[in-house]
Amino acid sequence: MNKKRVLSCIQPTGEIHLGNYFGAVKNWVGIQDTYNCVYGVVDLHAMTMPYNPKELRENTMRMVMELLACGIDPEKSVLFIQSMVPQHTELSWIFNCVTSYGELSRMTQFKDKSDLLESKSNKNIISAGLFTYPVLQAADILIYNANFVPVGKDQEQHLELTRNIAVRFNNQFGEYFNEPLPLYTEITKLMSLADPTKKMSKSLGEKHYIGVFEDPEKTRKKIRSAVTDTGENTEGKMSPGVENLFNLLKACGKNAEMNSFLNDYNAGSLKYKDIKDAAADAVIELTAPFRQRKEELSKNRPYVEKLIAEHAKKAQALADETLGHVKKLVGIYQ
Ligand code: TRP
Repeated sequence: MNKKRVLSCIQPTGEIHLGNYFGAVKNWVGIQDTYNCVYGVVDLHAMTMPYNPKELRENTMRMVMELLACGIDPEKSVLFIQSMVPQHTELSWIFNCVTSYGELSRMTQFKDKSDLLESKSNKNIISAGLFTYPVLQAADILIYNANFVPVGKDQEQHLELTRNIAVRFNNQFGEYFNEPLPLYTEITKLMSLADPTKKMSKSLGEKHYIGVFEDPEKTRKKIRSAVTDTGENTEGKMSPGVENLFNLLKACGKNAEMNSFLNDYNAGSLKYKDIKDAAADAVIELTAPFRQRKEELSKNRPYVEKLIAEHAKKAQALADETLGHVKKLVGIYQ
């Protein structure tokens, strides 16, 4: 009964790829019995970079369905769309007033994203929303008074800021918030197929990632044309592209197969085509039930919409409790 609370969120950036799955979603699914889990699709965060409103709405619902298809269980966990729980933005304003300009300027993700916007030298502005993005993230976490936040390395700085906000709030207005800790679990970091020195990501382009819900033949083709040896001297070490294929097999739970390929590799007799075929088979086998569940969910839109409305209510109830206390503490009206 006394389970600790976990909160994590994902941006609705389009289809879930294997990098997302093995880096985050699989873990979210796996901890649903151990913790009281609350998961969010953060559409408001997606507004901080240039976007298209129609695509945002579609991608948000798609992310909900894909998370359900991957195994987020609505009987065990709360799954909300951020914009449907307006308490987050209310709390984020209050947190904006206890966050310093200086600490936000030190956020590396802000620097990276604003550099990116500047380099594109188009009409896109670097918005105040992009600057205060981590404050909204702190509100996402603290409004549920989460104990643990499963995050990747790239989000550590934001989580540290969240703890600073919690501590500062507590000192200034009275003890209320937990200091949420990162939850690290064993994850497999997958690299891009076409450039295995970079992390698998959608922004690199189609041939770099494997979509969990994409057509199996497409997956097979992409893995077949994955970069293996680039001809560069790797000083006797396995090249990143080959290592990525091994990791893919391992991530899919094919340890025996992986070990046998490893023996071939050490004997100098590994054929890349064979390990690529095996990796493609493993991925397609793993994702088949996910694809089927998504197919079913897309045919049952009313079910998904009802579920989302119910879960928004659950999230709101939790959020309201926090917000009620907070408003009293900071001296504003309910
Ligand atoms: N910033 C996170 C990312 O880009 C997404 C996010 C928003 C988040 N709010 C959160 C992650 C709260 C964990 C907890 O991945």
